[in-house]
Amino acid sequence: MKPIPCHEIRRPLLFVLALLTAVAPGAAETIDPSDPEVQREIRDSFGPGATGAFRAKEGMVATSSHHATMAGLETLRGGGNAFDAMAVVQFVLSVAEPHASGIGGGLFIMMYDAESGEVVNIDGREEAPRAFHPDAFRDEDGEIIPYRRRTTGGNAVGVPGTLAATSHLLEHYGTLSLEEALQPAIRLACDGYRVTAPFARNLRQHRDRLRHYPESIRLFSGDDGEPLGAGDLFRNPEFAATLELIAEHGIEVFYEGELADEIVDTVRSDPHRPGVLAKEDLANYRPVRREPVSVDYRGYDVYGANMPTSGGTTLALMLNILEATDFAEKPYGSAASIHLMAEAQNLAFADRNRYMGDADFADVPVNGLLDKNYARTRAERIEPEKSLSPPLDPGKPAGAPEARSGRINVEEGLSTTHFSIVDRDRNVVSVTSTIEQHFGSALVVPGRGFLLNNELTDFDADAYDDGGNLVPNAPEGERRKRRTALGEAAETEGGKRPRSSMTPTLVLREGEPRLALGSPGGSRIIGLTLNALVNIIDHDMDPQTAVNAPRVIARNGPVELEAPLYRDRSLRESLEARGFEVSDIGASGSVQMIRITPDDWLMGAGDPRREGLAIGF
Ligand code: GLY
Repeated sequence: MKPIPCHEIRRPLLFVLALLTAVAPGAAETIDPSDPEVQREIRDSFGPGATGAFRAKEGMVATSSHHATMAGLETLRGGGNAFDAMAVVQFVLSVAEPHASGIGGGLFIMMYDAESGEVVNIDGREEAPRAFHPDAFRDEDGEIIPYRRRTTGGNAVGVPGTLAATSHLLEHYGTLSLEEALQPAIRLACDGYRVTAPFARNLRQHRDRLRHYPESIRLFSGDDGEPLGAGDLFRNPEFAATLELIAEHGIEVFYEGELADEIVDTVRSDPHRPGVLAKEDLANYRPVRREPVSVDYRGYDVYGANMPTSGGTTLALMLNILEATDFAEKPYGSAASIHLMAEAQNLAFADRNRYMGDADFADVPVNGLLDKNYARTRAERIEPEKSLSPPLDPGKPAGAPEARSGRINVEEGLSTTHFSIVDRDRNVVSVTSTIEQHFGSALVVPGRGFLLNNELTDFDADAYDDGGNLVPNAPEGERRKRRTALGEAAETEGGKRPRSSMTPTLVLREGEPRLALGSPGGSRIIGLTLNALVNIIDHDMDPQTAVNAPRVIARNGPVELEAPLYRDRSLRESLEARGFEVSDIGASGSVQMIRITPDDWLMGAGDPRREGLAIGF
């Protein structure tokens, strides 16, 4: 079918924005409003932000793009519910943040359905093609292809799940048709928008990968042939026509029709690193409703997504470990508090690395890992003044399979995006969505205006020995033996969904929704979400302060501090004296949070580290 040019695309009047909407004050609040020095530090580190520490009643949307926030808000104001707004926001993000998420990628949805009181977890994770071989990331000599080279090309592309999962949500919980939900994105792709500074920065960083493919670099270049810069107008009429095709023919055109043909052809004919994706892989793809994981943390019920993301279970384990300590009594930012944050994350990450992955393919001891007694035994290892000196060994939760490994999978892309939405009926969605790395595989489906993911790089492709050391040259038989002795749940396999760290989170108290949050950030996502959550529950911060506060991350390795904490020399020395290796991560993550207060106000927070914007009405 011939693409429909932008000027012929319908422009329904469904979405009318009333500009009476309350927009947040410009400057971000900080961890200690009385301390101008701390304010300056945060501004210097993260920028002024366009954030929303204010109250609303009828509905709120928090995303990392003002286009998506406004479109979601229009949907709510026009009478749509949070699930309608979810679909609209996701499609607009495909246009406005095409390097971070989109119909060529995957996502996890956590939602609270006010009518049934149910918390639902929808898994729209990408899936490896059936023919994907365990040695897919080895070259012809059997050598592991280095991570940086694995990330580009068709071999890394998993079957996209975003469109199927979003359409599933809309069909079962929404009030808009798919066609209606696509219109704001079609309009934005036609009209275009000004490229933001983070978009331009990411493009600069990834332009050499995009240059492998003339179609890809062309899409993101101006008329002068140069990659788009901040302030340039980015129009994507080809993508508008693709979305229009989906609006007319439904998701079948993507999973079984002409778009499926073109996706398969793009992946298989990649001259650089072809993949094995087949049309049946797309036709057989289904989003999966899974049992959410949940944990009671100091009277709050924290719900997260289940496998194949490690996010929900690892976050729950971190919270259980912290609850078994006197963490709540330690002031934010003190060495004692950071000590406990680091050890809880390190201990949980040792288990995450060993046990977690696609539970449809391997035994993952989720219940054992969520057990409070298990967390207590892990917490008992923590010493008050001395680091446990990671890498730490995994524990032995009930149901744990034999064999052990403590390796850290740090090589996960930093892209991805998170958004949270609450409507007037108090339906809530918390969604983390990705194409893996910024610009995914760097492959654009020619003439269709969208990128394909490189999610298969989230599998553990490397062979490691029992000490966690890379074994690049192990002979074939040896490699196989070792691989089965390691964290098999995350290993490369056809038909499997790669292990994720995405952590879309919902918090309820006495059955009522109270908080929705999550973040991008590769394997740091889990710790980033933990930081924001304990800032609310333990440190009693308002949402914007909780989001802005500098973060402490550990992944069974060094303590990673955001710049304002790292720059505190006496804090660093105190941690080093306890035996921690301390590193600087500048600014990390992009948490979009909405809190529902006990007296039923909505308070939103967009993260100033990217371009987070929370708006309510
Ligand atoms: N690709 C990011 C994640 O799934 O964790």
